[in-house]
Amino acid sequence: MKILIVYSTVEGHTRKIARFMEGILQEEGHQVALIDAKTAPAPGAYDAVLIGSSIHIGQYNNPVRKYIKKHVGAIRQMPNAFFTVCLGTASDLVEGHEEAARTAEKFFTENRWDPQMHMQVPGALKYTQYGFLKKFVLKRIAKKEGLSTDTTRDHEFTDWNAVSGFVKAFSEMVTSSSAGAL
Ligand SMILES: Cc1cc2nc3c(=O)[nH]c(=O)nc-3n(C[C@H](O)[C@H](O)[C@H](O)COP(=O)(O)O)c2cc1C
Repeated sequence: MKILIVYSTVEGHTRKIARFMEGILQEEGHQVALIDAKTAPAPGAYDAVLIGSSIHIGQYNNPVRKYIKKHVGAIRQMPNAFFTVCLGTASDLVEGHEEAARTAEKFFTENRWDPQMHMQVPGALKYTQYGFLKKFVLKRIAKKEGLSTDTTRDHEFTDWNAVSGFVKAFSEMVTSSSAGAL
């Protein structure tokens, strides 16, 4: 099947996750196009679409918001899924998870889109890439969430096995919906 992965990233971690997903879908026998939301085409020429974005200051990234707003009609008509990348779900504190869930629900309601599958993926702290101000802000957020404040290195919280399980389930859904259409 032809699958389009549309992603939006600020510090590169969502792209890393999207590339990992691309590899799994290829192993499952799909033909995959992995494209930044800034330049992604309409999904109509594909059999399924998987969209992902990180959250910054309580908001999904602009390019993915614009993409979904523009193409939601087509997205709803095909097998679809969404993944969120953020730090709230990296936390052991329930508040972080609740906030991430609220942000996603608000986003889906605003766009009148209920993805067939959604995964909250714990992201990364890229302290070595942040400028002074970002480092300061993220250190405060990390402290609040009970995450590492060691700014001498980056910290990755993504559970790659869980991502793999999600993508394999998506692949099954895509394959079985095409079998159902025959
Ligand atoms: C300036 C800034 C603001 C952020 N705001 C939030 C936030 O409001 N909620 C959250 O859960 N994570 C927040 N994060 C964490 C990012 O979602 C996380 O670092 C993610 O891995 C970034 O993915 P990306 O590299 O694909 O952009 C923020 C990160 C930065 C740098």
